[in-house]
Amino acid sequence: MQQAIAVLDSGVGGLTVVKEVMRQLPQEKILYFGDTARTPYGSRPAEEVLAFTSEIVDYLIQYQPKMIVIACNTATAVALEEIRRRVNLPIVGVINPGARAAIGRTKSGVVGVIGTDGTIKSGAYEHALKRLSPKVEVISRACPSFVPLVEAGNFNSSETFRTVSEALLPLRRSDMDCLILGCTHYPFLCHPISEVMGQDVVLINSAEETAREISTILHEKSELAGRGEVPIHQFFCSAEPRKFQEIAQIWLGEQIWLMPVVWQVYQLRA
Ligand code: DGL
Repeated sequence: MQQAIAVLDSGVGGLTVVKEVMRQLPQEKILYFGDTARTPYGSRPAEEVLAFTSEIVDYLIQYQPKMIVIACNTATAVALEEIRRRVNLPIVGVINPGARAAIGRTKSGVVGVIGTDGTIKSGAYEHALKRLSPKVEVISRACPSFVPLVEAGNFNSSETFRTVSEALLPLRRSDMDCLILGCTHYPFLCHPISEVMGQDVVLINSAEETAREISTILHEKSELAGRGEVPIHQFFCSAEPRKFQEIAQIWLGEQIWLMPVVWQVYQLRA
């Protein structure tokens, strides 16, 4: 049986990474865990986010994946190093890929970062960006109201536009030319976010760069799935399976079937 790439997030946000992995590596099997029972992670203490992340990693390891992707910036900020120390598998986070993508795009050298309270407080993006380019100016803002809108499937309503405007208008500065969507939930809101930020600000979604990193690691380890493989993906969530299913189907553009297994499990026909 094909070994999967395991992907985890606090909820539906990591599906933004999954979509890009499916696009770049269509032959790869995905095992996804969304912790919808305990979302959002962004305002929780770091020790709690680390404990939840470790618990999910242990759960996913039972399925013998070939790699684990922490498709959650909040969890990447606090748990990536610890999980890497503990687990003998390639562990990929989403912060370094996002920072790399922004440094590759910015011309003005002024980069905005939006994320959860936990991610912004950790300073992880600022650190990653300055390591790549010490002179970069970083303007950060926590947007804790965005994740609940996404988990509710509320991507384009007038309430969403109002919330996004209130949060981002103070960030509008003529010299910022890139804005990192430093939470994997935020690409669901890219329409209202780009309306507010205007055409001159490039939105950086770390999914594309993360999928590229996954591909590079698997290539180096000679673990890429063979061409012509037709993967059966599996989706788990810890609560609200109907809502999860609805959002996943809209975002991935695929049908998802409910599987009667311990914890909520879905299978997606590729
Ligand atoms: N999607 C996650 C992130 O990238 C977590 C959001 C949350 O649960 O607050 O940070």
